[in-house]
Amino acid sequence: QKVIVEKEVESTNKMLKELGESLPDKTVFIASKQWGGTGRLGRSWSSPEGGLWFSLLLKPVLPMEELPLITLTMAAALWEGIYNHLGIQVKIKWPNDIIWEGKKLAGILTGIKGDMDKVDYLIVGIGVNVNNPIPPELEYIGLSLKDIVKRQLNLNHLLLDILNCVEKYYQLFLTNKREGILAINKRHSTILGKAIEISTFKGKEEVIARDIGDDGSLIIEDKSKRIRKVLSGDVSLKK
Ligand code: BTN
Repeated sequence: QKVIVEKEVESTNKMLKELGESLPDKTVFIASKQWGGTGRLGRSWSSPEGGLWFSLLLKPVLPMEELPLITLTMAAALWEGIYNHLGIQVKIKWPNDIIWEGKKLAGILTGIKGDMDKVDYLIVGIGVNVNNPIPPELEYIGLSLKDIVKRQLNLNHLLLDILNCVEKYYQLFLTNKREGILAINKRHSTILGKAIEISTFKGKEEVIARDIGDDGSLIIEDKSKRIRKVLSGDVSLKK
């Protein structure tokens, strides 16, 4: 597995998107700092020194419908990597957030190079707050692993544990053994069975999160008790 390590880049996702053509499948690109880290929905992602900021280049042969499942595959890998490293059981907020006591520890951003008809490759970016400070404006919604275990962590060791799990769950994904991926996502979900607010391209809606579908979608029950499937969206818990 090829690993590229840089001190500082704009965004590891952006780097792999640009360089991906000439790099092998499963290349990992890591940076100590990002000055233009990005999150989902065009948000910025604070990436100072001390966090784990990396992206994976994946060149699978797969139909487009499988894309949502990639994010869940990585969420399962992150869950287990953190568990193996620290023995703590974090929560997963569909589709891409890793949560501890309501605050965000890590996020996943899956992107493609190419277009929907012809995907050249995938880039999966993973950001984990580890030893880094959380910016004051995010204190109520973000958290670093060091604050849970009350000590500084070794970034390389944590990364190795995560990458081992990425390999394990990615193999499950490629061989179409989804049960393992879905089981982790369901068992440790923060939202299943609860009232949530979901924003999709159609707008905001209050619904109940019922299940996760085999394709990685969220199965919801809407106000008129209809069961529907949502492939992507931004979710927040209703109190
Ligand atoms: C989210 O929760 O919105 C996703 C956050 C993803 C952040 C990671 S950090 C490494 C990679 N490079 C980026 O610019 N973003 C991802």
